[in-house]
Amino acid sequence: MASTAPIGVFDSGLGGISVVRELRRELPHERVLYFGDSANAPYGTKTPDQVRELSFAIVERFVRQGAKAVVIACNTATSASVNELRERYDIPIIGMEPALKVACDRGRGRRQRVIVAATPLTLRERKFAALMERFTTDHTIFPEPCPDLVEIVESGGLGDHDMVMGTLHRYFDRYDLASIDAVVLGCTHFVFYRDHFRELLPESAAVIDGNEGTVRHLSVVLESLGRLAPDSQNGSVDLANSDPSDRVAALARSLLDAA
Ligand code: DGL
Repeated sequence: MASTAPIGVFDSGLGGISVVRELRRELPHERVLYFGDSANAPYGTKTPDQVRELSFAIVERFVRQGAKAVVIACNTATSASVNELRERYDIPIIGMEPALKVACDRGRGRRQRVIVAATPLTLRERKFAALMERFTTDHTIFPEPCPDLVEIVESGGLGDHDMVMGTLHRYFDRYDLASIDAVVLGCTHFVFYRDHFRELLPESAAVIDGNEGTVRHLSVVLESLGRLAPDSQNGSVDLANSDPSDRVAALARSLLDAA
């Protein structure tokens, strides 16, 4: 497989664009084929079988396009399908999971109180139960399903500050936020709300996402296979979506280009 081949990145919709932003920053020579499945979003309220079927169809498309690796830029699709995808395909399949370890490690041995914001499916799946189990003895973890935060991104509502803050208050006012050490953004759509979370939380609470770790992992895997794109290659991002409307295309482009 040539190092010049593209990397397929997919999500249930527009959330994975937050991962592409990080990828473009860290690996500027890579060619990225992004596929957002906005016509079928959200994944987080579907069954694992439904999400698995959709994920396989997307990876099949990337394989036909000659991808050298796939990034599942979606915690939900990872929970439902990463093991099966790895069994079926022999290119690297990089998945995502809520960055709970990063949040707990910040405490350097002190007990941390951590909220994990994710989709209902991610928080219900075995993969998250196994992750919780690793940290729950030494830390206090609060899983919080936030499906509305996916819908707001998909419908282009991110710019409606009052509505977004109202939604965050609805999910998080029941916590004593002053006692929270970190909020983990366990869904790639939620990374677009980083500033809103900052506004909601006291300064002492960290806001953590898994995008940096995911891209680092991708980079290590590609390097170990000798498949990092050569410096002579101009990187690019091709944005495709199962929703063919101009509205979604414009939204995807503006999320990619936002600072
Ligand atoms: N962006 C996805 C994630 O990281 C899921 C959003 C959805 O429910 O479709 O989990």
